[in-house]
Amino acid sequence: MATPHISAEPGDIAERILLPGDPLRAKFIAENFLSDAVCFNTVRNILGYTGLFKGERISVMGTGMGIPSISIYVDELLRVYGVRRLIRVGTCGAMHESIKLRDLVIAQAASTDSSIVRNIFGGTINFAPIADFSLLRSAVKNAESLVLPVKVGNIISVDRFYDEEIDNKKLIRYGILAVEMETAALYLLAAKYKAQALAIFTASDHLLTGESCTIEERQTSFADMIRIALETIIDD
Ligand code: HPA
Repeated sequence: MATPHISAEPGDIAERILLPGDPLRAKFIAENFLSDAVCFNTVRNILGYTGLFKGERISVMGTGMGIPSISIYVDELLRVYGVRRLIRVGTCGAMHESIKLRDLVIAQAASTDSSIVRNIFGGTINFAPIADFSLLRSAVKNAESLVLPVKVGNIISVDRFYDEEIDNKKLIRYGILAVEMETAALYLLAAKYKAQALAIFTASDHLLTGESCTIEERQTSFADMIRIALETIIDD
């Protein structure tokens, strides 16, 4: 039984899944990090694969950009396909001065300007979407054992990539490390369906300095992040 957006049969998707935004990154991960990978979805070119990493069954699928897009896929993965552990692997815009380009950033929590939290809990409660602690602890340990710089803290999942109104200076004063567009929804849905979720990013550009990574730098730091995410997703 497929969903409107995923053409897989139940059982085609592993309980553990990596979620890059870009479907071509899902293909790249399947081809370069998994063995015996089989494609389970091509609907809307949101490519999804299941293969093996160190003998464990792992899936990888694109989510598209933004909270509405990732919410569709994550809801269906959790509700219909029985996924239990999800790690988003993406890029973020570094905001805080403590973050250098290409650093790994792990979202301990995800603030948001999206209505997604408000629409579930109403105006009086601001639910705090947070990472699963055991995945967070494992990812930090795996990053440290590879001697990779890693920063852990609060990030913001914004609705608009182009946003002239947002007060980035104030967000930085309150300790927001970085900006991206999906994690608050991932953490909220994981809470709803009692699953484990984590989001790891590489800082691809810096909002304070205006610098951005070269294509080559993006690829190297992307590969480091995938290694950490895969080691983390198979951790007990
Ligand atoms: N804004 C929002 N999302 C992002 C950015 C950004 O600057 N960089 C990478 N993802």
